[in-house]
Amino acid sequence: MTEKFPSVSVILLAAGKGKRAGFGIPKQFVEIAGKPLYRHSLDFFLKLNFVREIVLVVPRKFAASVKTRKKVKIASGGKRRQDSVRNALEKLDTASQVVLVHDSARPFVSRKIVGVLTKAAAKWGAAVPGTPVENTIKEIDGNFVKRTLERKKLFAVSTPQAFRTEFLNRMKNALSSGKNYTDDVSVLEDMGVPVRFVRMKKMNMKITTKEDVEFVNYLLNSKKREN
Ligand code: CTP
Ligand code: MG
Repeated sequence: MTEKFPSVSVILLAAGKGKRAGFGIPKQFVEIAGKPLYRHSLDFFLKLNFVREIVLVVPRKFAASVKTRKKVKIASGGKRRQDSVRNALEKLDTASQVVLVHDSARPFVSRKIVGVLTKAAAKWGAAVPGTPVENTIKEIDGNFVKRTLERKKLFAVSTPQAFRTEFLNRMKNALSSGKNYTDDVSVLEDMGVPVRFVRMKKMNMKITTKEDVEFVNYLLNSKKREN
């Protein structure tokens, strides 16, 4: 008998300010290859039949102007990324088995990675994708090197990050606790939940600067021309 694929709720984060990209508007609303950056991920998740709902988190002042769609709920962003996640958790339908949190600044999310992460989170509790770091990483104390970390144990992680819906209430409490979290599964690590690592061949690139926007625009447009 084949097991049923877990049902999924997606939190799509699009509530940052995009300061480093420095456009007049947040980078997720800048047009790339014919549509705003955040729509690349939104349209991707809308096509997946096991996704029951998507909570799209946008800056408060944009919340009223985002087009409403079936399956999509809108939440207002918070000051930090973790505050945006916290606000989205309030809107989630707890009937889904797995929650995926994804940065809309990463337009290259694939079916394959979503599938592997969802199954891993359902089985183990939580899951995170990553790639080996290419540079040697040193810990710096003041102006001096404290130590060199062992590179073969180090991985750069990205999104989507996945966890079982049963941890929702504990996630909410931890995110409001005053502690700073720069990614989602670190909250679960603190709780002692096993976080399965999913090794990816290529980094799921994040758009951070204006140059990244230009590069991805070029890449997606040339892909379109090929098809
Ligand atoms: N994000 C969010 N709410 C915040 C901060 C970030 O939803 N308060 C989202 C961003 O929209 C982005 C993702 O988290 O999709 C990763 O953040 P980052 O790349 O740092 O985007 P920004 O915070 O917008 O950029 P910057 O740090 O340059 O201001
Ligand atoms: Mg940021």
